[in-house]
Amino acid sequence: MQHLVDTTNLNRLQIDYILNDAKEFKIKKPIALLRDKLLITLFFESSTRTRSSFEVAAKRLGASVVHLDPSRSSTNKGETLEDTFANLCAMEPDGVIIRHEENTIPQQLAQMQLTSVINAGAGNDTHPTQALLDLFTIKEHFGDIKGKKIAIVGDIISSRVAHSNIRLLERMGMEITLVAPPSFMPQSNLPQVENLEEIIDKIDVIMSLRAQLERHATPVFENYDEYAKKYCITTELLGDRDILVLHPGPVMRNIDISDAILDDKRCKVLEQVQNGVYIRMAVLKLLFLDS
Ligand code: CP
Repeated sequence: MQHLVDTTNLNRLQIDYILNDAKEFKIKKPIALLRDKLLITLFFESSTRTRSSFEVAAKRLGASVVHLDPSRSSTNKGETLEDTFANLCAMEPDGVIIRHEENTIPQQLAQMQLTSVINAGAGNDTHPTQALLDLFTIKEHFGDIKGKKIAIVGDIISSRVAHSNIRLLERMGMEITLVAPPSFMPQSNLPQVENLEEIIDKIDVIMSLRAQLERHATPVFENYDEYAKKYCITTELLGDRDILVLHPGPVMRNIDISDAILDDKRCKVLEQVQNGVYIRMAVLKLLFLDS
């Protein structure tokens, strides 16, 4: 039984497999490779992209998908998460795709060894398929990414996208600089700056992140318009530089990225979403057919 809790579960060969399969799926829609498989999606936090992307990916491969809405499940009646999971597993799915606000939940459920567990985002630490789709999008643009320089900008400390990408992109040879105000900067050995302008001439990619207000115990900034003056990715900031702009979504328009840059061909936000389906198809194939 294979799980995907973090990209650290994958060796280099498996990462290359996923990237190659995603590339092939993008060129030619595959046959129903997973037609006898059943997946359950269980999202304890809101999601637009990841949940629908997993469901589209599974259905494109011919799998069946059942969604359990935790807000209408018996967790409301006091059932523990482990019991809910065990009851779902008694229906013999091939995998459960889970999002949860706590960092350790996917690993805890994986250790129960009842079904394959696929992490669709946990706490502020892991979001493996987002990191894989970001890697795919960067490689699609540059080919060889070794030595390419990326600035991760925004609420890094709260971001599972940032932490997953830091682990994966560093491993793949990219050079990462963290750009954030002190309150959004995590403990890290990576280079850190407070102003993106300091490094704008040296970078190939910007990964902009949303301020994750829902994870702040108390408001960090009174006024996000002031924050945006320093951290919003704008036409004035980019000029005509050849810099790829990524964002995992949801984007806070004109705080994270300006309207004009969202319409600029350097901005790959919707390509990331498109690539997410192919990456998740490749992940499902790896977990259910190739292992
Ligand atoms: N990128 C991402 O995780 O988006 P959702 O929260 O909409 O799934």
